[in-house]
Amino acid sequence: MTPADSSHATPRFSPRSAEPRAGGAVHRRFVLDGSGLHVCEPAVDAVIDPALGRPTTNGSTNMNDDTSTEQLPTCWQDVTDALTSGIDRIILFGPPGTGKTFAGLHLGNLGAGAQRLICNEDMTAADVTGCWMPNGEGTWSWHDGAVVRAWRGNGLLGGRVVADEIDRASGDVLSLLLNMFDSRESATWRHPESGKVHKPRKGFSVIMTTNVENLRELPVALRDRFPVAIRIDQPHPDAVARLPFDLRGPAIAAADADPDRRVSIRAFFAFDQLRKKLGEERAARIVFGPRASDVLDALRVDRVA
Ligand SMILES: Nc1ncnc2c1ncn2[C@@H]1O[C@H](COP(=O)(O)OP(=O)(O)OP(=O)(O)O)[C@@H](O)[C@H]1O
Ligand SMILES: [Mg+2]
Repeated sequence: MTPADSSHATPRFSPRSAEPRAGGAVHRRFVLDGSGLHVCEPAVDAVIDPALGRPTTNGSTNMNDDTSTEQLPTCWQDVTDALTSGIDRIILFGPPGTGKTFAGLHLGNLGAGAQRLICNEDMTAADVTGCWMPNGEGTWSWHDGAVVRAWRGNGLLGGRVVADEIDRASGDVLSLLLNMFDSRESATWRHPESGKVHKPRKGFSVIMTTNVENLRELPVALRDRFPVAIRIDQPHPDAVARLPFDLRGPAIAAADADPDRRVSIRAFFAFDQLRKKLGEERAARIVFGPRASDVLDALRVDRVA
C-alpha cells in the first residue's frame, strides 16, 4: 500500500470502478485520486455475491473455514497461514479497528479457549499470573490470572492468550511476560498455593496486538519471542461484510490512510446505525466531525459510479 499524499488540501474518497465479473459479481477498487486522501490499491478484492450481498469466498462467513481464505487480503492470508502452520507466537500490529483483537480471540485452533489480557500501566502480576483474594470464609484463595488460565487451557491442551496493547504494559509486567511467553521448554511458574511448578500445556499460543508501527519500540527480548509480526492494514472481510455495500469501499480505504485522515471501521458501524434515524448529513457530522464532507462526497461519487 502506498502512503497517501498528505500535501493536498481537499482529501476525498475515490471509488473508481465497479466492474461486472463472471457470475454477475461486482469487483470494486478504491484508489487514490488527485486530491489525495485514500490509497487502497487494491482494496479488499471483494467479490459480491448477489445472493448474499456481501463479500464472499465460496459463500463462507467463517474466519476459520479454510475454504474462505482464497481471496483474503494478503495480511489476513498471512495470519491464517502462520496459524495453520503451527506458529504460536504472533504480533498483529497496525492501525486501529482492523480486527487484530477479534482475530486473536476467534482465529485458529481455539478448542482450549482464549483469554484476553488488556495491557495498561496500572496492571500488575495479578492480571498475568493471579492473586490471593478473600473467599468469604475468613481465608484467602488463589485466583489464576489470564496467562496461567491459558497455560492450563482445557486441562489437556493449552489455550490462547490475546495480549492487547502490549506496548502499554509496565516494565514489571513486561519482565514477567518474558517468562510466561517464553518457549514451552523454558517457561515455568510456581503456584503459590500448591507450590507445584507449572509449564504451559502443549498448544498454548499467544497473539500480541499493538498500534505501534515501529516494533523496535517493544523490548528486544519480548519481540524476539515473537518471530512472526504481521502488519494488519485492512479490516477483515468479515468485518467489512457487516457494513452495507455502499460503506464497504470507504471503510476499507480509510482504515490505513494517513494517521490524521484515518477512520476506523468502528466509526462506519456507528455512522450506519445513526444514519437510519438521523439521515446521512447529521450522522456524518456526529461521527466523522470535520471529515464528514469527505465521507459524504465519497458516498455520492460511489453512487453515480
Ligand atoms: N472478522 C470479523 N468479523 C466480524 N466483525 C469483526 C471482525 N473483525 C473485527 N470485527 C469488528 O471490527 C471492530 C474492530 O475490531 P477489533 O477490536 O478486533 O480491532 P483492533 O484491530 O483490535 O483495533 P484496536 O487496534 O483499536 O484495538 C469490532 O467491532 C469487531 O467486532
Ligand atoms: Mg484491539
